[in-house]
Amino acid sequence: MKLLQVAKPADYREPCMIHCRSSHAEICSSVLACVLGGTLAWPKHIEEGSNGPTQTKGLRMLGERLAGKAIIVVGSGTGIGAATSRRLAEEGAKVCLADINLPAAENVAEEIRSKGGEAFATLVDLADEALVKSAFDKAAEQFGKLDGAHINGADMATLVKDTDILDEPMAVFDRTMQVNLRGHVLCTRAVLPYLIANGGGGLVYTSSGAAHAGEPVRPAYAIAKSGLMALMRHVASAWGKSGVTANCVAPGLTITESMKERNGTKSDFQVAMLEKTPSVRLGRPEDIAGVVAMLLSEDGRWINGQSYNVDGGVIMI
Ligand SMILES: NC(=O)c1ccc[n+]([C@@H]2O[C@H](COP(=O)([O-])OP(=O)(O)OC[C@H]3O[C@@H](n4cnc5c(N)ncnc54)[C@H](O)[C@@H]3O)[C@@H](O)[C@H]2O)c1
Repeated sequence: MKLLQVAKPADYREPCMIHCRSSHAEICSSVLACVLGGTLAWPKHIEEGSNGPTQTKGLRMLGERLAGKAIIVVGSGTGIGAATSRRLAEEGAKVCLADINLPAAENVAEEIRSKGGEAFATLVDLADEALVKSAFDKAAEQFGKLDGAHINGADMATLVKDTDILDEPMAVFDRTMQVNLRGHVLCTRAVLPYLIANGGGGLVYTSSGAAHAGEPVRPAYAIAKSGLMALMRHVASAWGKSGVTANCVAPGLTITESMKERNGTKSDFQVAMLEKTPSVRLGRPEDIAGVVAMLLSEDGRWINGQSYNVDGGVIMI
């Protein structure tokens, strides 16, 4: 809540300090109109604390924002990609879950279908160009079009061997580039023709706070995640006029189910990261999923070429 100081009209009576939400210009201007117009009647919605005349009282239903959209999530079997797939379906999208771990993707697709959503799973390996192309082709064939993609998969197993640039086996570096960066390039090449044919659509890549952090370890991971930001800006500038938007989410430490299984929720690293985080908790996959859903919806139509740090405020730029 902010205080808005209004000019005092000639027939002014108390109060002149109006409590209003800073984001609701309509409220402020209608209050001003009432006050300056000489009626001095408080609009009812201010007294009642609702969101004002241009909004309905209830919450927007989760089923509407992505209704009719066809979206593919690459790297959707577990963690952030699984949460995004669920969220997209909850908002009405038809979802193709592509993953190298097909049984995991099939489980999430089945869960979505059991709740009344539309979803199917397909095999993809980000290291395999033919499989990448066929996953996008299958999604477009099944749904008749593609409106968007969340390109999220990464080989997380390489992380533990991603030491420093002198020590690191080049095979680890190459594998990280192959899956975490080149794989996203392959996905981009596979999806763009469908988005252009569709008259536009949204692309969201999962980068990482590691792209900004400047850490003494995991250089390959950070280089790949920085590369995604360059890729995203290239796509945004080259195909923005075709109606395509491209953006990144850059998560901070997000506790996935597999992390919980491996490390619990109170490892030294997690405790240290929470201390560095100016928020009350670490990330949940659903935190990232909500931002991806927004970027792929009409609410994100005029957001292009941006990277969103979704990290509880660890990185502030
Ligand atoms: N969890 C975090 O703290 C965190 C933070 C920053 C960024 N990220 C990024 O978020 C994304 C998702 O990670 P997560 O934490 O949910 O981990 P995760 O391991 O649960 O998810 C990764 C997904 O990618 C899939 N995958 C792995 N290799 C693949 C390949 N070759 N082809 C296709 N799919 C493949 C996996 O099967 C899995 O479903 C990754 O890009 C990761 O770098 C995660």
